[in-house]
Order: sequence, then C-alpha cells, then structure tokens
Amino acid sequence: MTTQIPFVDLLADRAELGPELESAMARVADSGWYLLGPELERFEQEFADYCGTRYCIGVGTGLSAIELALRAAGIGPGDEVIVPAYTWIATWLAVTRTGARPVGVDVEAETYNIDPGLIAAAIGERTAAIVPVHLRGEPADMDAIGAIARAHGLAVIEDAAQAHGARHRGRRVGGLGAAGAFSFYPSKNLGTYGDGGAVTTDDEAIADQVRLLRNYGMKNRYEIEAAGVNSRLAEIQAAVLRTKLPHLDDWNAARATVAERYRQALRENDAVALPRSPAWADPVWHLFVVNLAERDSCATALAEHGVQTLVHYPLLPHLSPPYLGSGSAPGDFPVAERLADSTLSLPMYPQLDPDLCDQVAGALVALKSS
Ligand SMILES: Cc1ncc(COP(=O)(O)O)c(C=O)c1O
Repeated sequence: MTTQIPFVDLLADRAELGPELESAMARVADSGWYLLGPELERFEQEFADYCGTRYCIGVGTGLSAIELALRAAGIGPGDEVIVPAYTWIATWLAVTRTGARPVGVDVEAETYNIDPGLIAAAIGERTAAIVPVHLRGEPADMDAIGAIARAHGLAVIEDAAQAHGARHRGRRVGGLGAAGAFSFYPSKNLGTYGDGGAVTTDDEAIADQVRLLRNYGMKNRYEIEAAGVNSRLAEIQAAVLRTKLPHLDDWNAARATVAERYRQALRENDAVALPRSPAWADPVWHLFVVNLAERDSCATALAEHGVQTLVHYPLLPHLSPPYLGSGSAPGDFPVAERLADSTLSLPMYPQLDPDLCDQVAGALVALKSS
C-alpha cells in the first residue's frame, strides 16, 4: 500500500511536546488572566531576543501585524506602498486596510521574491513604503531594497509571515527594516493553536504605537488616543508559542534536511525547476516549491500516489476581485503570473521523514519522464 504523505502534519508537535503544551495551556486557564498579561509579555521579550530586535508586540493575526506596523510607521490614506506581485493576498490587504494603495512589483524568476531592479520604476510622488515578503522562508534582497528605500525616503516593513528565523547575511529577518510582521497561523514555522501575529522593531515610537493600536488605541483605561483595532495575542496562544519557540531552530534545521533531500532527488531533472537561494541567504523552508509544466495534472497524479500538494498561489492579488480593475491588469507581472501557473508546493514539515521525500520526488520524476 502507498504511504499517504500529508502536506503538513499539525499534530506532529503535539507528539513531541504534548505534556509541556498541556501544562502551558492549563497554566493560563488556571491563572484567570487571558489577555495582555504575563505570558504575552514574556513571549514578546523572548521573540524579540530571538529576532535580535529591541521590541516585539503580539497582535491577533499576521494581517494585522502588517497593517499596524504600516500605520505605526505613518502610512495611511493617500500613500502608495510597494508590494510584490507574487505573495499571499494578506500583504496587499494589509496595505488597503491602512487606507493606502498597494502598488505591485514583479518578482525575480530565480527566488520568487520582489525584484529590486523593478522597484524604482514603481516609485511615484505618493510612495511611502515598501513591504518586501520573505516568501517560502527565503529572505528577500534586503541590501538592495534598503538602498532604494534610503535613496527615496521610504519605510521598509518586512512581511516575515513565512520566515521565522531566516537570516539575511547572518541577521534574522524581522530586524532588517523599520519593522517586521510575523504570523503564527498554525501551519507557519512557528504556529499556535489559532490565530496570532507579532510586530518586531528597534524603533520605540513604532513599538509604542503598535501597542496602542492593537488595543482600541487606548492609552489608559477608557482613554482613547487613536482609532485602533482589537487585535491582541491571547495569553493561551502566547503560552503555546513560548513552549514551541525553544524548538524553532531545530525544526527549521529539520526542514532544511527535508529540502536538501528533495533537492538531491530532483536536481538532475530538467522538467522540474527549483528556485535559487542566494549565497547570503539562510532560508527556513516554510514551503518547498517546484516549478513545472502541466502543474495541475501533476498535482492530481501525485494525489493518486498518496502525495498531498498545494498551490501557493493560483490567483495573484492583482487579479483577485478586490484589486481587478484598480490599476493593474493581466499581463502586468509576467514572472509572477507564470509562477502562479507553474508552481507546486510539496509536503514540508519538520517531522517529515526524509525517506518519504524520495517517494514524493520519485513519483514526480516518473510523471515527468512518462
Ligand atoms: C506572506 C504572508 N503574509 C501575511 C500573512 C497573514 O498572516 P495571517 O494569516 O496570520 O493573518 C500570511 C499568512 O497567512 C502570509 O503567508
């Protein structure tokens, strides 16, 4: 019988850390303090230390992390914000929620991240910020992006939702711009049992403003200073994250082992192209993505072999209903549009047995050679 290989295994960390997770959750339940309490404060300190930033502010989702970081950096109605064309729509929606307009830029065919060479042409009088995304756990080219941002006086807010622990020239993402935004959605490299997010920053004013905005804009009890939102990282989620954080580096290393196994098995196959990781990047393999013709029929055939795959992302933000007809059109971002038609994400999670990668890669190679 063929082994069924899921895309992710969200129960695997419970098998590893079950009793610790149970006692962390019970600690919160028994404490009677469920929001904005000691677990969150400790997690914020621990995650800031991990990312190498002075501050971390827990929020309700990754989407709000980007939105609130942008708002705290002064972005709002009338502004334009540069975003990659190939990303999860949350990056674009977060900009829209600030009242600013997202302006797409195509991505590099090799890394799938925003192409710094195309950013200057997208900068106009209203441009106020760039949101690079470290997609798949692969750091964007922050040196080139930072240089453009400095030359034009733009804020850089990193969308690090898929890249907890990734390094750019040895420095962790989240601390490479004015602020970083993380998601703790369950399947992320660091995920919780529900929604969660965080903003990381070295800038005290940004940190204070995000802290204010996440809790209705409330300075002191019932004293509202700004039109904030309700976007808090619950104590129970913070306790789960605190239990998992010490294991993140080991889990990222296990993901790298899985990725290496796939790379070895697929490297000689011309029909299956793999993205490139620059020498200065230490990616954390949130996804392992291959690029191939007849992607959809390959996905169906792999499913018949027991291999679950996903497509990130078949419909790009600029072609989605919220943005269609509002400035960009089909054909505007040829590299991103080609990727949307040809990329396939293979099973990837730290506990995936590397031997099973050979089964996945073997099934893929057999399909492409038949
Ligand atoms: C690149 C990217 N940005 C932003 C988000 C938004 O995070 P969340 O789902 O926690 O709101 C996600 C995850 O879904 C993401 O993958």
